[in-house]
Amino acid sequence: MSNVMDSGIRRNDGREINQGFLSMNKHSSPQFKATPGGSLKGKLRVPGDKSISHRSIMLGALADGVTEIQGFLEGEDSLATLKAFLAMGVSIDGPHEGRVVVKGVGMHGLTAPATALDLGNSGTSMRLLSGLLAGQEFDVELVGDHSLMSRPMRRVTEPLAKMGAVIETTDEGTAPLRIRGGQTLKGIDYDMPVASAQVKSCLLLAGLYAQGKTCVTEPAPTRDHTERMLSGMGYEVVRNTSRACVEGGGHLKAAAIDVPSDISSAAFFLVGASIAPGSDLLIEHVGINPTRTGVLEILRLMGADIEVQNPREVGGEPVADLRVRYAPLKGIDIPVEQVPLAIDEFPALFVAAACAEGRTVLAGAEELRVKESDRIQVMADGLQALGVDAQATPDGMIIEGGAINGGRVDSCGDHRIAMSFAMAALRSRSEIVIDDCDNVNTSFPDFVGLASTAGLSIQAVR
Ligand code: S3P
Repeated sequence: MSNVMDSGIRRNDGREINQGFLSMNKHSSPQFKATPGGSLKGKLRVPGDKSISHRSIMLGALADGVTEIQGFLEGEDSLATLKAFLAMGVSIDGPHEGRVVVKGVGMHGLTAPATALDLGNSGTSMRLLSGLLAGQEFDVELVGDHSLMSRPMRRVTEPLAKMGAVIETTDEGTAPLRIRGGQTLKGIDYDMPVASAQVKSCLLLAGLYAQGKTCVTEPAPTRDHTERMLSGMGYEVVRNTSRACVEGGGHLKAAAIDVPSDISSAAFFLVGASIAPGSDLLIEHVGINPTRTGVLEILRLMGADIEVQNPREVGGEPVADLRVRYAPLKGIDIPVEQVPLAIDEFPALFVAAACAEGRTVLAGAEELRVKESDRIQVMADGLQALGVDAQATPDGMIIEGGAINGGRVDSCGDHRIAMSFAMAALRSRSEIVIDDCDNVNTSFPDFVGLASTAGLSIQAVR
């Protein structure tokens, strides 16, 4: 908090970020109240993929021509990216029912925003934009909410500095990020110490503006939406299993983008239907890019009954309908190679583990400690509050499956934790009350409405 307050940053709307503003937000954040029991049935479509929605605006803005996007996620995170590009002079229509039209300004057509860009809760916006903006002619400052301003940014600012970027952080390596324009960037060959698609994408985006070639090698496969979309817009990306390279100085051509439903949002329903007897649910048009399907692998290893129906390719991304039916789950040792492929789905998977027979062990997932919240600690605290034997470890969790009592848990403003505990009510003995659920709107607007239609008994109360 102190870095936020001390810096005296102003938001885009001119308001000073201060303790009063932040705490007012927290106190008006709704609670979810979920009644125990029920099952999930029917068919539904969850909102558009968050990662692809961010990238569609960023690359659409830099392209030559008009990019038409369908299925865009109208959540606060992707809207933060959209607003950032509006503030940098890009003309964008929408979103209207998931349709957005971006009039590309070309690689050098962005203009200086009048104020700092406020990226809210969105780590993807901040990390990808830091790379994209490091090569512009103008200065820019990136800020966000309390969670985002506490997240580690050296993982992007250090390699960007090696490319010649000039970016100031706080002494703790956190935002505000003050990016100095007018620098000459040079391509680097970078071995990423952590498996992070945000870092990889940040450096590839900076690489578009660098002299020569920028190559990023990852220690384990991470989501490759940036590489796919760059190629789809005519920018050559040379890839082998663990490495992606771009040459600076090229152009992007506008293209139609069809954003599939987000497997990370589908994950709550995959878990909910798996744990609730009587469930039989079809989740339509879900992105099943192999760099995102760890949740399917892990749930299947636990005994889940998930069928991939009608697999197809839409705009360079694999898509399918997922049919999930209740099945008794068993505890497993989660294979470490699945961790980056399911990195956002662990809050939901921990709920599945709490309902499984036997012990589930997760290790090698220390990255969960620096997400929108410390997802290891916050989930362990919440599960314990519901009577589950869950022990946090430095890099994961050990969960003994069994009964889930009711009770009150704090999501700590983390959207995925709020939605995961909501699904836990399908198997709990009494009501589950979840605090601080406002940020569900960052990735899943109308989660309560859609989950209710499927059969979860849930209300949002102020
Ligand atoms: C994302 C990458 C992942 C993921 C995040 C979205 C992206 O973050 O957790 O929700 O769109 O590139 P890391 O790169 O920090 O693993």
